[in-house]
Amino acid sequence: MLLTGPEGLKSLTEAYASHSAIPGFVAYNLETVQAIVAAAEAHPTHPVLLQAGSSPFKHAGRDPLMRLALDAAATSSASLGVHLDHSRDLDEITACLKAGYTSIMVDGSHLPFADNIALTREAVRRARDHGAWVEAELGALPGDEDISTNATTTPTAMTDPAQAADFVAQTDVDALAVAVGNVHGFTTTPVTLDLPRLAKIHSTVPIPLVLHGASGLPTPQLQGALTRGVAKINVNAELRRAYLQAVQSQLPNALPGSDVVSIWTAGRQAVTEAASRIITQLSQQP
Ligand code: 13P
Repeated sequence: MLLTGPEGLKSLTEAYASHSAIPGFVAYNLETVQAIVAAAEAHPTHPVLLQAGSSPFKHAGRDPLMRLALDAAATSSASLGVHLDHSRDLDEITACLKAGYTSIMVDGSHLPFADNIALTREAVRRARDHGAWVEAELGALPGDEDISTNATTTPTAMTDPAQAADFVAQTDVDALAVAVGNVHGFTTTPVTLDLPRLAKIHSTVPIPLVLHGASGLPTPQLQGALTRGVAKINVNAELRRAYLQAVQSQLPNALPGSDVVSIWTAGRQAVTEAASRIITQLSQQP
């Protein structure tokens, strides 16, 4: 079932209170939408966010992917929100809200502070008209959303706790994505989060925090984040890698008969297993 915006926000708040997190899994196409929904159905008590867009719209097209994700969520037995990830475009945000997205992320992290506030305030205004909740970002997260580039965070790009409190007060967002050493995509050496900085942000910002770049994060780092206000984690690269590894191993069997369905099926199954592992890990949080 598709969680409404208020229901989704309630789930986020409950995760925040219990030091757990809702996973936001990025979906690009039919198989990845189906895979994430299947993983959510295997964990009926743990809400999941299907993050369909904005970057995946470049691959699948906005309308087809929006409809696919919303329909898959609505017809599933699992509790699923449909979330717009990393949007810098108010027209795109409005289109998704009108279609029925239950939350959106407005990403003004590349903008000067005042411009980020202005963009975020406008996104919040539009989202409220549709009952959706809003995630914004402060601080710059390195890496690419669709390809692992082995980037690293410079300390200057990290979220400043005092500025974060000011940002939240001025924008009225529901959740804040932070840069505390986290990186989009896999890195050659495991990421070490700046947990003291995260703790400081948690103590100054009164809303759930979001950790992007959760793929490959060592378990103690993830647990450290969950006990310091992180209530939503974003995962993409881990699902992409699972998909590609499954395709690679199935390819020799598929090529002789041009059996493309077996490739898609293997990829989908691998993404379900990867997403399911992450939901299990989050469900087992104390
Ligand atoms: P990863 O690709 O590192 O999992 O990050 C995903 C993400 O943050 C999407 O917004």
